Amino acid sequence: MKNIQEAATVSETFTLLKERLRDMVPEAELYVKAELAYEINRLKKEKNAVILGHNYMEPALYHSIPDYVGDSLGLSRIAADSKADRIVFCGVRFMAETAKILNPSRMVLLPAKVAGCSLAASITAQDVRELKKRYPGVPVVTYINTYADVKAETDICCTSSNAVDIVRQLDSDMVICLPDEFLAKNVARETGKKVIMPSEALNNKAGKNSMIVWDGKCEVHEKFTVSDIESARRQFPETVVLAHPECPPEVVEASDYSGSTTAMVDYVAKSDAQKFLILTECSMSDNIQAENPDKEMLGLCSIRCPHMNEITLEDTLTCLREDKYQIELDEDIRVKAKKSLDRMLEMS
Ligand code: 13P
Ligand code: SF4
Repeated sequence: MKNIQEAATVSETFTLLKERLRDMVPEAELYVKAELAYEINRLKKEKNAVILGHNYMEPALYHSIPDYVGDSLGLSRIAADSKADRIVFCGVRFMAETAKILNPSRMVLLPAKVAGCSLAASITAQDVRELKKRYPGVPVVTYINTYADVKAETDICCTSSNAVDIVRQLDSDMVICLPDEFLAKNVARETGKKVIMPSEALNNKAGKNSMIVWDGKCEVHEKFTVSDIESARRQFPETVVLAHPECPPEVVEASDYSGSTTAMVDYVAKSDAQKFLILTECSMSDNIQAENPDKEMLGLCSIRCPHMNEITLEDTLTCLREDKYQIELDEDIRVKAKKSLDRMLEMS
């Protein structure tokens, strides 16, 4: 199939998008989106911009304008090496900040002014400093879903695709793992560490072979339950269940596979199974469905990340036209934060 970004006209963009998305988007709406996508793709070349799209982007955007799509780790690597004048990040703020931290000489643009994340909002740099004071020398592993000032207090970052591996490689008896309670608990289970909650940690209860966690949650993944899995399996026993590691530990344990967003995309593409239940932000199921028309994603999902949802084709066009919103960071914080990201990239 011809690359949608190479379409010579709006009508060709529409035809190619229609082939990819079939009936997922009503035709009239898809035509408007094709007009926007065509103009974005034209302007992107004119302004020497690269567009990075997280796997959670809505289907019409995801399939029409990004030069690269992927998970947090994959897109960070691409951002770090980009030579484009502008990096437009179709994702949330912490992702765009990560791109700026790694590649400061480029203009990094986020199409929405805020586009936050409940995990990034759950912890401050001062919270990390207090834990470090209480546990001097204990390595601090911080999820990439945090803002630059928190990364600056961190020894090493991790993402959903390398967290277990990084904790194993650190080979440290005690680890501080922030701020996602569920991701940390899932990592603790795999690495055989005892979980210490923040209240216990601040009362000096952490001992041998322990992982000090924070109580941040992803407002999307915390909603999935074991009964969602049971009900899908009752109706369709052959269903393969995939869960993002930000889901509660009992949900991850009840699933057949857990991995980063890209790991789940790849899993479905390579699997011989026919039916899948994907416990993550729901646009990703639609994007996988579009790419795998012979397989079926069970439509349990109505859970959209409100922050990812702020990124639209309309705002991406304005972002390119007006060079907004530019990511600016304090240089001191950026340099410190970069160390924790560089260490992660070296170790993964
Ligand atoms: P991934 O790194 O797996 O893409 O996850 C990012 C995220 O925000 C999940 O909610
Ligand atoms: Fe943050 Fe959850 Fe949205 Fe991912 S899905 S950006 S973790 S709120």
